[in-house]
Amino acid sequence: MTFVDASNAPVRYTGEIKLYGQEAFEGMRRAGRLAAECLDMLTEHVRPGVLTQEIDDLAREFVTERGGTPACIFYRGYRHTVCTSVNHVVCHGVPAKKALKEGDIVNIDVTVIVDGWHGDTSRMYSVGGVKRRAMRLMDVTYECLMKGIEAVKPGARLGDIGAVIQEHAERQRFSVVEAFCGHGLGRIFHDAPNILHFGRRGHGERLAPGMIFTIEPMINAGRKDVSLMADGWTAVTRDRTLSAQYEHSIGVTEEGCEIFTLSPVGRHTPHSDAPVI
Ligand code: MF3
Ligand code: CO
Ligand code: CO
Repeated sequence: MTFVDASNAPVRYTGEIKLYGQEAFEGMRRAGRLAAECLDMLTEHVRPGVLTQEIDDLAREFVTERGGTPACIFYRGYRHTVCTSVNHVVCHGVPAKKALKEGDIVNIDVTVIVDGWHGDTSRMYSVGGVKRRAMRLMDVTYECLMKGIEAVKPGARLGDIGAVIQEHAERQRFSVVEAFCGHGLGRIFHDAPNILHFGRRGHGERLAPGMIFTIEPMINAGRKDVSLMADGWTAVTRDRTLSAQYEHSIGVTEEGCEIFTLSPVGRHTPHSDAPVI
């Protein structure tokens, strides 16, 4: 694998890992912040009776009113601003005239473009009170993301990220989805490298300052296997057990990494606001 200076690289997928400079980091901060603010705004709207399509409308209006562009609209034929993945939906749940109900757990994933830069982030939300096991799954998924992020520093390897995530999930007898991964991003939405959420310490590409990518583990309460629904988007657990996901966009720095999509108001885990029933 080769590293290339992003400022001289073409804005398309080449399979090379791009290294970005200060200007890119500043662009990613603005995009990441808007994506995070969108998820902050949605928190109070996630309650029983709300349609996932209404959540999508709120997100689209919020992003466009602030000068951002929803990256997912027209992306490979997708037509919405967010993905809303409820209960056994692993990812890419399509907003629809579908009401959320008490006890549901839902991932909302938004990607915005600001001045050409992508901010990609997702969080879990509880709809009213949720069962203990659902709460535990969401807690562990967030911990997996943050442990993965803590492993990011120059000289560490991609396999180190996957290993800490897999070890933490499997220690709780949960499983890691292998069919989807994190990704490089910047001016391109899904770029090299793939960020696997499982793996072996000491294996894979070495991390270098200037790399920008997402970490977005999907953790299942049951088995790791995934099926795709007939709409061509919605991925579900094959055994129909619950699945959870959290995502941040990050950049590798000399010291470690910078998270571009942190909630400016500290709503890092909206799922934990709910009572356990
Ligand atoms: N935001 C998702 C990701 O984390 C991608 C969604 S693509 C879409 O990479 F087209 F389904 F929106
Ligand atoms: Co992503
Ligand atoms: Co995303």
